[in-house]
Amino acid sequence: MSILIVTGSGGLIGSEVIETLAPEFDLAIGIDNNMRASFFGEYGDTTRRRRHLETNVSNYRHYDLDVRDRDGLISLVRKNPPDLVVHAAAQPSHDLAARIPFDDFDINAGGTLNLLESTRRANPECVFVHMSTNKVYGDSPNRLRLTETKTRWVYANKANADGIDEQFPIDQSCHSIFGASKVAADVMVQEYGHYFGLRTCCLRGGCLTGPNQSGVQLHGFLNHLIRSVVLGQEYTIFGYKGKQVRDNIHSRDVCAFIREFYRVPRLAEVYNLGGGVDNSISVLEALEAVGRASGRTPVYSYQNTARTGDHICYISNLSKIRVHYPNWKISTSLEFMIEEMVDQMRVSEQAPRPSYHIP
Ligand SMILES: NC(=O)c1ccc[n+]([C@@H]2O[C@H](COP(=O)([O-])OP(=O)(O)OC[C@H]3O[C@@H](n4cnc5c(N)ncnc54)[C@H](O)[C@@H]3O)[C@@H](O)[C@H]2O)c1
Repeated sequence: MSILIVTGSGGLIGSEVIETLAPEFDLAIGIDNNMRASFFGEYGDTTRRRRHLETNVSNYRHYDLDVRDRDGLISLVRKNPPDLVVHAAAQPSHDLAARIPFDDFDINAGGTLNLLESTRRANPECVFVHMSTNKVYGDSPNRLRLTETKTRWVYANKANADGIDEQFPIDQSCHSIFGASKVAADVMVQEYGHYFGLRTCCLRGGCLTGPNQSGVQLHGFLNHLIRSVVLGQEYTIFGYKGKQVRDNIHSRDVCAFIREFYRVPRLAEVYNLGGGVDNSISVLEALEAVGRASGRTPVYSYQNTARTGDHICYISNLSKIRVHYPNWKISTSLEFMIEEMVDQMRVSEQAPRPSYHIP
């Protein structure tokens, strides 16, 4: 019997992985305790996605398990030895991490170790995909020389034009507490490949997005910005004159890569995975584009202080992933993503809900 295990299965990436890949397995197990709701309040709640999976994916089985529960995880994975594990459960916000450092580290680093070891014991032949982050590079990308245009920061040196590649150093920089817990997880995932031969890969995400994201101010840049504009709520820009650049990738394209990696797995790999140059946009440009797509005038305020460790210009260099997996490509344009999310929010968010809650 072939088994897929996905942690964070109520979240953006986890739920998309279940929808996309479950039909290729006999059994799809999802692990998610909806901690996103306790992190971010009602807008972060992923119950709707979980119910959708339970109703529409016939071989889906949900477990309301905390990835910090080592014994629970070991027991579940032993009973269901997986062929593919996709680890997408996390405390995902770098601002929130500073307020809950123990929870952040226990979930992001400890939870990852629990899952790696559970997997190795149950099936050392398993393929293990870990959702890492571009925050593992800390704020080193901010040391690159930049030039300023009317709407965005741009890499000044032509050698950086395609973005940040996997050779970029990960130490000697400010990561945020979140970035540091994700570094610990990222290195441990690599180590289970190097040391134990588990076929692991770390996907160091840029901005991952799509209509299934429960975006909030503290996590989910484009989704949150679009919701703010569509609902006529004020959007807050934090520093860098609003010209900070993010590259955006649709959750479908993330899943498409995971499928490619599962088909032809490698050992202890690391890939930067974002929208690349073509899907990059600054905050000011995004406000303008979403205003145009939605027919609403964006309302925003500006705070001069940038978030600690925040990137000024981050674009994922996709050269390595494209060379290793030539069948994979970005299939969803930024324009399409914006239109899709604007349409989805018009339908599902007609009545404003209370704003997020910070514990
Ligand atoms: N979304 C992005 O822009 C982005 C960018 C870079 C990296 N990533 C990484 O990709 C992964 C997935 O991101 P996402 O956007 O789907 O996040 P998400 O918050 O939408 O999903 C994560 C899910 O994990 C669950 N979860 C949290 N703590 C848990 C715990 N202790 N036990 C069990 N479940 C728990 C949450 O309830 C949530 O449903 C994360 O590791 C994140 O750090 C995301």
